Amino acid sequence: MNFADSLKENKIFKVIAEAAKESSVDAYVIGGFARDLILKRESKDIDIVCIGSGIDLANAVAAKLGGDIEVAVFKNFGTAMVKHDDWEIEFVGARKESYNRDSRKPIVEEGTLEDDQNRRDFTINALAISLNAKDFGNLLDPFGGVEDIRKKIIKTPLQPEITFSDDPLRMMRALRFASQLNFDIAPETFEAIKKNKDRLSIVSMERIADELNKIILSSKPSYGFKLLFHSGILDKIFPELTELQGVETIDNKSHKDNFYHTLQVLDNVSKESDDLWLRWAAILHDIAKPATKRFDEKIGWTFHGHEDRGAKMVPSIFRRLKLPLNEKMKMVANLVRLHLRPIALVKENITDSAIRRLVFEAGEDINSLMILCRGDITSKNDLKVKKYLENFRKVELKIKEVEERDNLRNFQPVVTGEDIMKTFGLKPSRIVGDLKTDLREAILEGHVKNEYKEAFEYLLEIAEKKYNLKTPSVKISTKKSDQ
Ligand code: CTP
Repeated sequence: MNFADSLKENKIFKVIAEAAKESSVDAYVIGGFARDLILKRESKDIDIVCIGSGIDLANAVAAKLGGDIEVAVFKNFGTAMVKHDDWEIEFVGARKESYNRDSRKPIVEEGTLEDDQNRRDFTINALAISLNAKDFGNLLDPFGGVEDIRKKIIKTPLQPEITFSDDPLRMMRALRFASQLNFDIAPETFEAIKKNKDRLSIVSMERIADELNKIILSSKPSYGFKLLFHSGILDKIFPELTELQGVETIDNKSHKDNFYHTLQVLDNVSKESDDLWLRWAAILHDIAKPATKRFDEKIGWTFHGHEDRGAKMVPSIFRRLKLPLNEKMKMVANLVRLHLRPIALVKENITDSAIRRLVFEAGEDINSLMILCRGDITSKNDLKVKKYLENFRKVELKIKEVEERDNLRNFQPVVTGEDIMKTFGLKPSRIVGDLKTDLREAILEGHVKNEYKEAFEYLLEIAEKKYNLKTPSVKISTKKSDQ
């Protein structure tokens, strides 16, 4: 196979080839870029391996590109990185040991191209394309990587035990590539993952979470999660999720398997959104079902309060998995907490106030919440799903209508805590909070319009009635225009 034409489309390869020639070293495109070229996937990262010093070649390339191109050198690891236009090009000298970008082990032994290909993770990632004059564009594929791409197989180039002991994270990478590319994992490779999964304990949680997030972002993440589950890795890194698996039956009454249900919800949500955090909310929406599960002789299985309990579990799960403890986490917790609310509205006679409350509590996350909630409608019975979705659609329309009419998305009562303190000469205190809550409730219930004059008058009324606060003589001195 020859890729000369494809490489010529990008001038950077010409520059690298010339620099390598002038430095008298052989150079090859290797790894992900070569794989993605065959798969016709877009890729912005280029890995170059040369038989000699990767750092020297990077410097030579930067000099040729001219301008003020910086070379980031990682001396200990013998690698260097050049950024040019949108491209990130990493240069490395061929080596005898494992190639692993995150390894802290300094390199010691230089090697041949074959040595280097030997120590890469998968056959599909060990492909090299020559940049040398004598065979420019030729593919060097010692392990049948092209055939494995054709067969859609993830397989280690050496015995899997050897490849995985070089870097145990590769076990996660195998599942990640399978999930991203919709590939199978070769049986002996999968067996080795099952056998060696405990070795993941020496890998940092950050690297594991990176791979997990890539699985979550693949187009059908349930596949990656099934691989994680059956390899035994899921139980190691995320036992709360495996706990959802299984069905219990008492008195002929069974509940659904919440693990497979969760995966279905995750796939449903993923069809509609590629937001990582919404996908996380799908994964976690029923996470507290095992903790809240009860059997009631009259009504069967219940999971009362699993939404609140689940929301409370989010921070500790995020902390352990080294996910960000910021507003993204808050959004996930909020979605978990609210995930039953829209569907509950299907059953009730929907009142405007119930909708106003939901929109107020969901805030910016209302669209995500609706996607999650729609995705949560799963059943083996297609007719049931259809009927539910139809009813749900009515709720969605109603929400839209109320939201637009009352302009609620970023709802804040027009009379603020500041206003309350000023009006009654109060310092920050409980009573200010209580007044604010009363006012907000009245607006959400629809008793009072969210307009300054009406809200302010209501405030004066409840302040006097409930808290015996005197109405100030000048009623609305700092009158704001109604919003
Ligand atoms: N590699 C490896 N073992 C690792 C990490 C990386 O052998 N633990 C090698 C593989 O040859 C891989 C290349 O380094 O193709 C580049 O690694 P990386 O950028 O992490 O992966 P890509 O294959 O480029 O894929 P992606 O960009 O999707 O992560």
